[in-house]
Amino acid sequence: MQENSLGDKTMDESRQGEAIQLQDGEKVNGKKLYLESYGCAMNFSDSEVVASILRDKGYTTTRDEREADVVLINTCSIRDNAEQRVRNRLANFNKAKREKPGLVVGILGCMAERLKKQLLEEEKMVDLVAGPDAYRDLPNLIEEVDGGQKAVNVLLSRDETYADISPVRLDQNGVTAFVSITRGCDNMCSFCVVPFTRGRERSRDPHTIVQECQDLFEKGYREVTLLGQNVDSYRWNMTSKGEVKDPEKPTTNFAQLMEMVAQVNPKLRIRFSTSHPKDMTDDVLHVMAKHKNICNYIHLPVQSGNSENLKRMNRGYTREWYMDRIHAIKRIVPNCGISTDIISGFCGETEEEHKDTISLMKEVKYDLAYMYKYSERPKTLAERKFEDDVPEEVKQRRLEEIINLQLSHSLEINQAQIGKVEEILVEKESRRSTDQMVGRTDRNHKVIFDRKDKKIGDYCLVKITDCTSGSLIGELVEE
Ligand code: SAH
Ligand code: SF4
Ligand code: F3S
Repeated sequence: MQENSLGDKTMDESRQGEAIQLQDGEKVNGKKLYLESYGCAMNFSDSEVVASILRDKGYTTTRDEREADVVLINTCSIRDNAEQRVRNRLANFNKAKREKPGLVVGILGCMAERLKKQLLEEEKMVDLVAGPDAYRDLPNLIEEVDGGQKAVNVLLSRDETYADISPVRLDQNGVTAFVSITRGCDNMCSFCVVPFTRGRERSRDPHTIVQECQDLFEKGYREVTLLGQNVDSYRWNMTSKGEVKDPEKPTTNFAQLMEMVAQVNPKLRIRFSTSHPKDMTDDVLHVMAKHKNICNYIHLPVQSGNSENLKRMNRGYTREWYMDRIHAIKRIVPNCGISTDIISGFCGETEEEHKDTISLMKEVKYDLAYMYKYSERPKTLAERKFEDDVPEEVKQRRLEEIINLQLSHSLEINQAQIGKVEEILVEKESRRSTDQMVGRTDRNHKVIFDRKDKKIGDYCLVKITDCTSGSLIGELVEE
């Protein structure tokens, strides 16, 4: 887990050695794939597309890297330390490669896109580099490597959404799944590398999204999280200016898409990430309020509580605008959980500006926050225009203030849940004891409870009896 984040958003966690089950009658080519993923939920979701593409070519997967013929690492570039982690990990494969010279080592994802061919020069044991829009080409790229060449495809696309590929669900609990609805990002926040690594924003055909959710439900899944860098800018059959492309066909915006997915089945819970404060409309909130199976939880990254800082960040909103969106959530979706992302020590951040972030946190009182020190990224607007001038120790001290405040808010909100009876979806066994299970409330609070007869995938009622700043403790109550 990220050293300075609370909660267990997947950001900066890694998933290693994910195995897919072969279905009856599937042809195998005798080659084993070892897949490892870093970064955000979108990257994990992409790894499922990669596994699907390679399975169709006969690859099987292994959780043991020593058995692998092909090692693929799906990487993240969001902060410098995310890249350093991957570089350190690559050192391990150096040795593996000496022992097994035919081993193919490939880098996928955001580092691949950011560094392109340079990766082959810097990391000698890497054979293959494929960007996020080049995964259909992976079987060919691997063949090229087998033929003795290094292989690179980092072309970004304006329309690739992998909409027709049914992702293989990797290493999952069989209950919760990610479903991508957009790719790329057109926002150009000045600190962010994502527009460079993921390309232009594009939305996926709504019918393929609904179909995927339907299939998941039929396979026993009970929760989907709709994914996009900015889900609020989802649009189908519309230009970015909101003009209709084909008048013969219906248009779909995010509020409408959510409503379509909510109707798949009342027993399928819906979550989504990430909402953008500049684009989140009241329509989305009204749809949430209307459908019980759309969870009352919004991740609404603020980044900073100061309007001048937000302007330098090119976020497209002020503190006042952001607070108006918070008030809209509290008005339209009562009892809605809210979480955020905060960056400490962005270029030019003064002590006063930092204090504004602290005061905004006190005004909103987030359930959860993911908090980071600013890390300058090559080619971004901030790197070109501003100086990374907040000293490391000041960034660190501000971050600690932010984290400590958030810990006290999370604890306070969790304590306020004690005594309530909540419906939870059971997701997994507790890591500490097989007698305990872990589920989530509608508001996304993690609850640990004695399992009795409950199984993964069940909905059940629990009474909250105790808590820490990270989770709730509950006991089953009769339905
Ligand atoms: N699309 C989402 C966030 C994607 S990146 C959004 O717009 O909110 C996830 C988080 O990483 C960001 O919200 C931001 O808080 C953090 N982040 C992005 N670039 C960063 C950088 N250069 N340094 C530190 N944190 C960064
Ligand atoms: Fe990055 Fe901003 Fe796009 Fe989020 S909205 S991915 S922070 S550019
Ligand atoms: Fe990282 Fe790329 Fe996601 S930079 S956060 S893996 S979009």
